[in-house]
Amino acid sequence: MPLVPMRQLLDEAAKGGYGVGAFNVNNMEQIQAIMEACQETQSPVIIQASRGALQYSKMIYLQKLMEAAVIDCPEIPVVMHLDHGNSLETCKQAIALGFTSVMIDASLEADGKTVASYEYNVETTKSVVEYAHARGVTVEAELGALGGIEDGHGAGLAADDTTHLTDPDQVVDFVQKTGCDALAVAIGTSHGAYKTMRYDKDGNALPPALALDLIEKIEKNLADAGYKQYPLVMHGSSSVPPELVDIVNKYGGAMKKSMGIPMKDIQFGIARGVRKVNVDTDGRIAITGAIRKVFAEKPEKFDPRDYLKPAREALKQLILGKVKDFGQAGHAKDFKPMTLEDTKKLYAGACGGGKGCCCGG
Ligand code: G3H
Ligand code: 13P
Ligand code: ZN
Repeated sequence: MPLVPMRQLLDEAAKGGYGVGAFNVNNMEQIQAIMEACQETQSPVIIQASRGALQYSKMIYLQKLMEAAVIDCPEIPVVMHLDHGNSLETCKQAIALGFTSVMIDASLEADGKTVASYEYNVETTKSVVEYAHARGVTVEAELGALGGIEDGHGAGLAADDTTHLTDPDQVVDFVQKTGCDALAVAIGTSHGAYKTMRYDKDGNALPPALALDLIEKIEKNLADAGYKQYPLVMHGSSSVPPELVDIVNKYGGAMKKSMGIPMKDIQFGIARGVRKVNVDTDGRIAITGAIRKVFAEKPEKFDPRDYLKPAREALKQLILGKVKDFGQAGHAKDFKPMTLEDTKKLYAGACGGGKGCCCGG
């Protein structure tokens, strides 16, 4: 199966009422782990690469690994998505590489740090939508800015800073003006392992303060304006499982006490229109714990396969759990995959739209 446009995966997820994990990758082992888990559970999936990942993998390697993934798992619908594109130029680069979906994160300026004006966000997103849709490629945008305590991503806002949460009253105007296919909303999640700065008197991390009610307001405003089942995206959705952090620390790591997004909160979002769930950090922790364990228990080992194989397996186990919890498991064969040519016609309004049509009728 070739790579599929994200638009189709999100529409199918809306029909089925489930969420689709969007997992970050930088290398072969991560791609293989995700594909193995999705093959085993028959899950459609979004694989995403950040700008940092593209730089790390020198782009062409990642492109060829993705080609290998779809050849290796022909039954699995896979989206190749650019995570946090910062400009039209970056999105063009990803589209030229064959990505079937891009995110333009113009909630921040092109430096990836400064919170941008609403007007800048609208104009930049609109330019990406025009370019991408003419090629059948899906566009995710972001309104409001995510908190980011420690990873250099997002606006560097403290996770409890509520000033840059998504304003539900701007959402309809933004979607209408830009034509984006999916919208990342800022509801208090943040990137990285340290999503909370709140601790109890014993030093235990308290859950991040989320504004889950915003999702309900956003969903209602969109539905009232005629956008039924409009796909929302939840960034910063790692749960930072304590058992994985414990493995890292048991074998010489020094991660601080933390708490991620509880699965019940993600599922609350999924029940209200969240269709894409972004996870990177949990995978990083799983991989690091597995590698540290081998280093600590078998210090005589020096063949990279001795620690990369357990690392790949640890990530696979993590993804197996996520795809079941998000609900995408078992949905790989629900639909006939669309091509970018199909979505190009859809965006141009040139498809028939009837039963059996490329758009599903
Ligand atoms: O959104 C951030 C992702 O976790 C990617 O992070 O830029 O370090 O690859 P990265
Ligand atoms: P986490 O850091 O919570 O895994 O979030 C990743 C993300 O949102 C990538 O865009
Ligand atoms: Zn993100």
